[in-house]
Amino acid sequence: MKSNKSTINDCKIIDMRKIHDVRGNLTPIEGGVDIPFEIKRIYYLYDVPSGESRGAHAHKELQQLIIAANGSFTITLDDGKNKKSFTLNRPYQGLYVVPGIWRDLDDFSSGAVLLCLASEHYKAEDYIRDYEEFLRYKKS
Ligand code: TYD
Repeated sequence: MKSNKSTINDCKIIDMRKIHDVRGNLTPIEGGVDIPFEIKRIYYLYDVPSGESRGAHAHKELQQLIIAANGSFTITLDDGKNKKSFTLNRPYQGLYVVPGIWRDLDDFSSGAVLLCLASEHYKAEDYIRDYEEFLRYKKS
C-alpha cells in the first residue's frame, strides 16, 4: 500500500512473547518473525523532561515498532482524517506504526525509556515535519 493511503487502522498493538522466569522475564523480538519487518536500526529515547513532547512528524517509508521499555508515555497517531491515542506501559507490548502516519508523543513518565525498532537506516528525507505538508501528502 502507498503510504499516503495508510490509516491508523493499519497500526496495531503487538503483544510480544514473554518468557516468564523467577530470575526475571524476557521478551525476544525477531525481525520478520515477531514483527512484520526486518530490523535495520534501533534507537531509544530517555531522560525526557516532565511535560516535554516528541515526535510531531510522519515518515514516508519507515515502519516502526515502538515499545515502552520502561515507564510509560502516550502516542497519538493521526492519518489526516482520524486520530487514536495509545498509552504504552508494558515492556512486552509494542505499537506497530506503518508509514504515512503522523505521531505525537507525550505524557512521558519519570524514567520512561522509549525503544524503537525501525525498518530502515536513518534518512532525513523520509521525514515529513510540517503538518500542512502531511495533510497535502495524504490527499495526493
Ligand atoms: P527525531 O526523529 O526528530 O526525534 P523525535 O521524533 O523523537 O522527537 O530526531 C531527533 C534528532 O536525532 C534529529 O536531529 C535526527 C537525529 N536522529 C538520528 O541522527 N538518527 C536516528 O536514528 C534518529 C531517530 C534521530
